[in-house]
Amino acid sequence: MSQILRDARRYEETKERQISEEPRPEFHLSTRVGWMNDPNGFSYYNGEYHLFYQYHPYNSHWGPMHWGHAVSTDLLHWRYLPAALAPDTTCDRDGCFSGSAVTLDDGRHLLMYTGVVRETQPDGSQKDVQTQCIAIGDGRDYEKYTGNPVLGEKDLPEGSSRYDFRDPKIWRDEDGTFWCAAGNCTPQKDGRILLYKSTDALHWKFEKILIQNGGRYGKMWECPDFFELDGRQVLLVSPQDMLPQGLEYHNGNGTACFIGDYEKTTATFIEDQNQAIDYGIDFYAPQTVLAPDGRRIMIGWMQNWDTCNLHSPDQPWFGQMSLPRELSVKNGRLIQKPIREIENLRSGRICYKNIAFTDIIRLDGIKGRRIDMELTLRPKDDREMYQKFAVRFAQNEIYHTAVSFRPRESILKIDRKFSGSRRAIIHQRRSLVNSVGGRIKLRIILDNFSAEIFVNDGEQVLSATIYTDLTADGISFFADGSVCMDIVKYELL
Ligand code: FRU
Repeated sequence: MSQILRDARRYEETKERQISEEPRPEFHLSTRVGWMNDPNGFSYYNGEYHLFYQYHPYNSHWGPMHWGHAVSTDLLHWRYLPAALAPDTTCDRDGCFSGSAVTLDDGRHLLMYTGVVRETQPDGSQKDVQTQCIAIGDGRDYEKYTGNPVLGEKDLPEGSSRYDFRDPKIWRDEDGTFWCAAGNCTPQKDGRILLYKSTDALHWKFEKILIQNGGRYGKMWECPDFFELDGRQVLLVSPQDMLPQGLEYHNGNGTACFIGDYEKTTATFIEDQNQAIDYGIDFYAPQTVLAPDGRRIMIGWMQNWDTCNLHSPDQPWFGQMSLPRELSVKNGRLIQKPIREIENLRSGRICYKNIAFTDIIRLDGIKGRRIDMELTLRPKDDREMYQKFAVRFAQNEIYHTAVSFRPRESILKIDRKFSGSRRAIIHQRRSLVNSVGGRIKLRIILDNFSAEIFVNDGEQVLSATIYTDLTADGISFFADGSVCMDIVKYELL
């Protein structure tokens, strides 16, 4: 083991003891110490889920990337393992960027990641060259392959930037062939996904450009994932620098899901429809795992690149993952539901039926910052459409986070303006949702410093982090017009 990795492991162990009292999310994975971004190497290995993550242990801002590591049997209770990778070889001395994991026939766990090396240009400026590397291990300790990098400049098709070539997602076919999809772009920053093939996961051959952006959705495409689901083929990507498109895609670095068909013999992806993966503020770089029971489960980084650098470096930790979500495809749309294991955390069921209101109401027992609450809404009288419904949570005299719905426009909005932020960052996002006659279902999951809103049984999700003091745990409801509501609410512990 290198001194750099040994130092990181020693540091995280010591530092963790000093910050263990800090309030944290209860059932969302947050960084052990320092900084966390993308989920990496999400896999099921030797009876446990493994989740690695982009990790800078030494302070709560992005820096030379390591891989943090945690394991879980239910994807809700996590146990940290020592950092798995550190930037410690000639191929990755400036960072071990995102990647994925697969199990080899001999039972070893293989990680494929992006090695970053900073190169000084003739004009004195610096640029990061990116290649794909391998590390193999036992679920705890990993040894970097001496043949690294396994994919580099010579493996790029013509017109590819070697400065933007990253985030390999590896998978295996039924016949044992390894495949890898990696993010890339042209020197003009037109995003694309490259497909590679291998028989041993060490020697790779360029297969084809799986999909080219063609200037449609942002610039460079990061963090691809590619899998079959419910008879369709799904491609997840995280495009950088997007322009907004209606209420579907927003400015900045976003997420997109392409649903289509895959012609396996020619490795041809025929895209059909696309949509945002998450319609809230904080969600990026998702990665999926195929669970032993056949579920396709996705986790994303619950943050936004444009708002994640404003905190003080003294803050002891920064970064958390989204709730793991079970994916399916229905009528050409990606459906996301909170993993069913969350039902094991439920207690204290409170249920109200047919609550009609025309103003602000509060209901006995409806409060909390770690809750699973489902609201089913309709007009009190079908002949009289209401103007607006809102639920406010994480609420006291100073704070609240609001989710509001305007049935006439079918627009759902999340607003975290009063949620503890002292910065002029994005505080609101709006999304078009499906609603007929003012009917809508909202499942709201709160975990101390986040809110995830699942709309209409997973048709859409809006995720946002909040920074509100934990003593603000009130919940209230508001109607402009007459709303009728059913509620089922649980505490989550
Ligand atoms: C996405 C990303 C990846 C890269 C990693 C670096 O959030 O930019 O493309 O591998 O973060 O930390």
